[in-house]
Amino acid sequence: MELRFQAGGGSAWTAGAVVVFLFEGETLDSACPELSEGAPWLLIAPGLRDFRGKKDEQALLYGPPSMPLSRALVLGLGKKGAGTFAERLEGLRKAAGAAAVRCRELGIETLGIPVTSLARFCEAGPDVERIIEEVVCGALLGLYRNRVFKSAVKKSEAAEGTGDVAPDPRWLGLLFCDATVPDGPRLAARRGETHAEAVLLARKLANTPANHLTPERLADEASKLARRHDMRCEILDRADIEGLGMGAFAAVAAGSINDPRLIVLEHAPAGHAEDAPLVVVGKGITFDSGGISLKPAAGMWEMKSDMGGAAAVLGLFEALGQLETPRRVIGLLACAENMPDARATRPGDVVTTLSGKTVEIVNTDAEGRLVLCDTLTYALQRWTPDMLVDVATLTGACVVALGNDVAGLFCQDATLAQRIKDHGECVGEPFWPLPLWDRYFENLKSETADFANAGAREGGACAAAVFLKQFVPPEIHWAHLDIAGPGFVTRKITNCPAGATGFAVRTLIELVS
Ligand code: BES
Ligand code: MN
Ligand code: ZN
Repeated sequence: MELRFQAGGGSAWTAGAVVVFLFEGETLDSACPELSEGAPWLLIAPGLRDFRGKKDEQALLYGPPSMPLSRALVLGLGKKGAGTFAERLEGLRKAAGAAAVRCRELGIETLGIPVTSLARFCEAGPDVERIIEEVVCGALLGLYRNRVFKSAVKKSEAAEGTGDVAPDPRWLGLLFCDATVPDGPRLAARRGETHAEAVLLARKLANTPANHLTPERLADEASKLARRHDMRCEILDRADIEGLGMGAFAAVAAGSINDPRLIVLEHAPAGHAEDAPLVVVGKGITFDSGGISLKPAAGMWEMKSDMGGAAAVLGLFEALGQLETPRRVIGLLACAENMPDARATRPGDVVTTLSGKTVEIVNTDAEGRLVLCDTLTYALQRWTPDMLVDVATLTGACVVALGNDVAGLFCQDATLAQRIKDHGECVGEPFWPLPLWDRYFENLKSETADFANAGAREGGACAAAVFLKQFVPPEIHWAHLDIAGPGFVTRKITNCPAGATGFAVRTLIELVS
């Protein structure tokens, strides 16, 4: 769905449906008086009589077909003034997504949102632009469908059918009262569009089955993206990974015929090429069978999305390319497939990491920390990061601790932790702090090597984080984000069908911006 802009007030607007959001008890003419010009019929529309403005309530109203605005879709937001600013943004994202989906279901090809009506959701100032951004982003995210492998869709994109094959609306128009479209809101809408495209890229990749998305294919995606945005992209293969001495990374890939890749992306805009970079590391396990410590069959298929961290980093770079963010950012994607095989790493094997520290691999299913530790060391050997962030679907224990829609935030730098938490809250990606205390290191004791890659089940998310901590000196501004819960969902959530969510993409973009 394309974005469009219309100026000139109610009498100049045209769209298949005009979309308005109402709190409980609000009237349409108080929320959007401009509509009395473009859609005078709306103010006396009988269909509004029983509309209460309750959360998730919808009313579809029809006027004379000859009018440039002859349909209205009104969405309820619930009680006015309830909740925080972040919660109100979530409500708006949800309503915008629902509106776009409803239009698609009805075959309405174009929709318009009066921007003036959005201003009443906040105090004046930058918040209005944030609201525009979130409404646009919510509408675009809501339309996402995972149907790349549906044969019915392949056969006929333009099918006249309903449901899954109905085409998306052609455009979403933002409707302004000013004589010309003002720059601030226009850019905000474009930002919302960019954020959505970045999230959708991450969803698409993490939903792709592992037979279609190997580390090599992920590297192809990264280099295509880099070419599109004129960024540097370097790809290390198995020989490079082994040759450099990344014994832990290589051990994870040992059992797979699909060779690993360490992908290096660099966004270095003019004037910032020599800055200390922000380095973002993503776990890119294209399939996690557990290896010789094989996972149970039930739910193993979900591990096609164990590259959700790497997908989030790619999403971030898609946005960096579009937004031309004036900041040097390095992205590292640690990609491998974790498989059982005659060549696979055995439980009890000892490897030497790039740092020189030795690790006893007591559980081959704790593979994420193994690819990440060598990638973190690589980052620190090559750059002096201003900030180091890793994103990973790292532990089932984190899902047990925080549930399916909250990510674990491990960070001893209080300022950085607060920033991540605040940004996440604003864009609907909640992070909650968990400790990086050294007491968890006790769980990783090894008789044979410096330490083990896994230990007791209790406190598993913290133990994994403290494992990574062994590779990051205390003076580094480092955060570890465990997105195992919210990265992939088995039931539909707000603006996202079951499957990969693209979680963390928007927080990373905000953090860099
Ligand atoms: N990729 C998994 C973690 C995971 C679990 C992500 C569920 C998303 C949903 C990770 O590689 C893993 O297997 N972790 C083990 C670690 C254990 C063996 C110490 C786990 O959490 O059970
Ligand atoms: Mn695993
Ligand atoms: Zn894994």
